[in-house]
Amino acid sequence: MKISGTGSVLPKKVVTNEMLSRFLDTSDEWITTRTGVRTRHVISDEKLDEMAVEAAQKALDDAGMNPEDLDFIICSNVVNEYVTPQLSCIIQGGIGAACPCIDINCACAGFIYALEIAESFYKAGKVKNVLVVCAEEPTRMTDWTDRRTCVLFGDGAAAVVLTPGDNIRSIKLSASSSTDKLWQYRILQPTPYITKEEQDVPLQMKGQDVFKFAVKAAGRDISRTLKDAGISPDDVDHYLLHQANIRIVNAIRDYMEQPESKFHSNIEDHGNSSSSSCPILLDECNRKGLFKKGDMVAMSAFGAGFVSGAVLFEW
Ligand code: ACO
Repeated sequence: MKISGTGSVLPKKVVTNEMLSRFLDTSDEWITTRTGVRTRHVISDEKLDEMAVEAAQKALDDAGMNPEDLDFIICSNVVNEYVTPQLSCIIQGGIGAACPCIDINCACAGFIYALEIAESFYKAGKVKNVLVVCAEEPTRMTDWTDRRTCVLFGDGAAAVVLTPGDNIRSIKLSASSSTDKLWQYRILQPTPYITKEEQDVPLQMKGQDVFKFAVKAAGRDISRTLKDAGISPDDVDHYLLHQANIRIVNAIRDYMEQPESKFHSNIEDHGNSSSSSCPILLDECNRKGLFKKGDMVAMSAFGAGFVSGAVLFEW
């Protein structure tokens, strides 16, 4: 397939590190040097499903397509207000499409997993035009008294429209179960038969373990796509990595031995917006006109699970 349109939407509330240091034992200096984040967009009175619909509409406009042209909608999301119906169905109604749709939860790697599903359906002859939407509000998952997690995240929604083409050169996915490194529990409705003790637990993270996993997984996944496509790291014009921590981005850049100019980043203004992070960055680069036709783009994401993936595509 090929990416024919992109769109993204951010919440209007911007929270600075200084604002966080008013109620947390933290500082702009600590957050900036350890993570690269200076500000993040945080959901206040917006609704995530409405942001997702707006991002989808922007991507359709960018592609010059109508909702009725879509054959499939995939939405990547970790949490939102609805347990059911699925967010993709809400998006389908919001944009006025009529095609089948599914939600996936592959944490921060959701965009790459969604591309692989779209590409596989396309190769199987089942679809022509696919809308992928990532909509995430990780700021609703964290404990805002926990300085180790809440400073890292921001919210947002982003979408791409995929149409027939052979621009996607390779996608590689991986998963290695490690459920005690990055996790969150929620309590479901009680029943008369539940006897075990249960409690809500906000997002928990062993930061250094996640850091090491991320660098190793991204280096491996990108290298696998390059090998698959028969090209070298030098042949890639743009590297777009999941925006979790600028130190992770820099470590992957060192591993790939590539210049800083090829690594686009928005973590300074956005923080980590889970699976929305890669398509938001993609949309921003697209709208800034940074991509030329024929440019080679490598994208990689990693997250809770652990899951990870990389995609190599020609613009
Ligand atoms: N402000 C001030 N001090 C802090 C803060 C903060 N916001 N957060 C932690 N500290 C303190 C810790 O309490 C600790 O203090 P101590 O030594 O007195 O115990 C000290 O700073 C060092 O803590 P570390 O955890 O060792 O710090 P580290 O350098 O590893 O940075 C970080 C932590 C930023 C979380 C880093 O490990 C990281 O980025 N990890 C990867 C995170 C990531 O990619 N997450 C992806 C999740 S996305 C998803 O899938 C949902």
